Amino acid sequence: MKKILTVFGTRPEAIKMVVLAKKLNQSSGLDHKLCVTGQHREMLDQVLNLFDLQPDFDLNIMQHGQDLSDVTSRILIGMRNLFRDEWKPDLVLVHGDTSTCFTTALAAFYSGVKVGHVEAGLRTGNMQSPFPEEANRVLVSKIANYHFAPTDTNVQNLLDEGVDPKSIIKTGNTVIDSLLYISKKLISFSSKLERTTLPKLVSENKKYILITGHRRENFGDGFIQICEAIKELALANPHFYFVYPVHLNPNVQKPVNRLLKDLDNVQLIEPLEYQDFVLAMKHCYLVLTDSGGVQEEAPSLGKPVLVMRDTTERPEAVTAGTVQLVGANKENIISGVQGLIDNQTFYNKMTKLHNPYGDGKAVNKIIDYLSKQ
Ligand code: UD1
Ligand code: UDP
Repeated sequence: MKKILTVFGTRPEAIKMVVLAKKLNQSSGLDHKLCVTGQHREMLDQVLNLFDLQPDFDLNIMQHGQDLSDVTSRILIGMRNLFRDEWKPDLVLVHGDTSTCFTTALAAFYSGVKVGHVEAGLRTGNMQSPFPEEANRVLVSKIANYHFAPTDTNVQNLLDEGVDPKSIIKTGNTVIDSLLYISKKLISFSSKLERTTLPKLVSENKKYILITGHRRENFGDGFIQICEAIKELALANPHFYFVYPVHLNPNVQKPVNRLLKDLDNVQLIEPLEYQDFVLAMKHCYLVLTDSGGVQEEAPSLGKPVLVMRDTTERPEAVTAGTVQLVGANKENIISGVQGLIDNQTFYNKMTKLHNPYGDGKAVNKIIDYLSKQ
């Protein structure tokens, strides 16, 4: 029986891999186990608990304020030990572009284990943006044996880099599988939100802008510009609320709390559980973010997205007109958001439902392919 190990470590990988891991656990003919690196802790456990998934292995590597070398070295040794001492699979499945993804692929390569790359072929073409994710993706594509690419653009990116066409499988993005899975369970906000005003904003039909941000290349000046823009927008638009679940990275927590904590219509809250975040997206006026996953989810919920980055590896929704890049630039963020508040025609154009990233069948396509190998 073929032995497959799924490995993830951060919130977005978990969200996009849980449905696959659950279905692989149920697949007869495949011997499947799950390893989490614990690159994230609380934000990873939120997803595991929500989807009721217990890992077989947990490297538990997170340290507060870790840097890229900490994460990379701890995962490389952890995965080496796992393959050597506990369980050596025939294939590991990794996701996307995180340090968990790249380092696990490298450890597998060193140990003679095949690699399947889920969400393969995304590119900005700029190694500094997003950093270090673009490098991670490019490097994993060199190592991987199977490339599960979400869109035609992603397939083409891989072909352009000389990847063997027979090893590329177009699947759609598993994020849509997760979104559909969780959408069936969306009734109301969880009881954990009772102490926040988010449920009240929704029940009273108040307009709010949902914000997330965490990219490394925005640390320092970028985050100061982002926070100053939010502050000006909040003061200029007192009838709008700004709901910001703040990422646990200290490089984010510090500037955001320092610059935004005393504004009446800005609500800084803890990272939301996935189903609460999806509900928050469904009811918001627009999304302001530098996230990758949110750029895929919000268009399929019909929400305009302003992306606080200079580049995106997800051009499909930009082309469709539901996503716009504003950079981590104070003036551009202010004019982007204010334009969508003031100009209803423009706003309505950006609220088209658009779903270029998949049909919810990505997980089945991946499992069908693996079962035939
Ligand atoms: C990582 C990924 C990034 C991904 C992001 C998703 C890399 C290089 N970066 O960035 O690609 O988009 O996750 O959110 O792989 N922390 C906690 N608890 C948590 C999670 C994080 O306290 O549950 C704090 C810790 O102090 C930790 C820090 O955040 O040291 C940074 O975490 P890390 O995974 O290194 O980087 P992210 O910025 O989260
Ligand atoms: N998300 C969440 N709670 C939050 C903020 C985001 O569950 O408070 C989800 C969001 O729906 C998306 C994913 O987390 O699926 C995005 O994670 P993140 O922005 O941390 O990483 P990226 O996608 O940029 O790698």
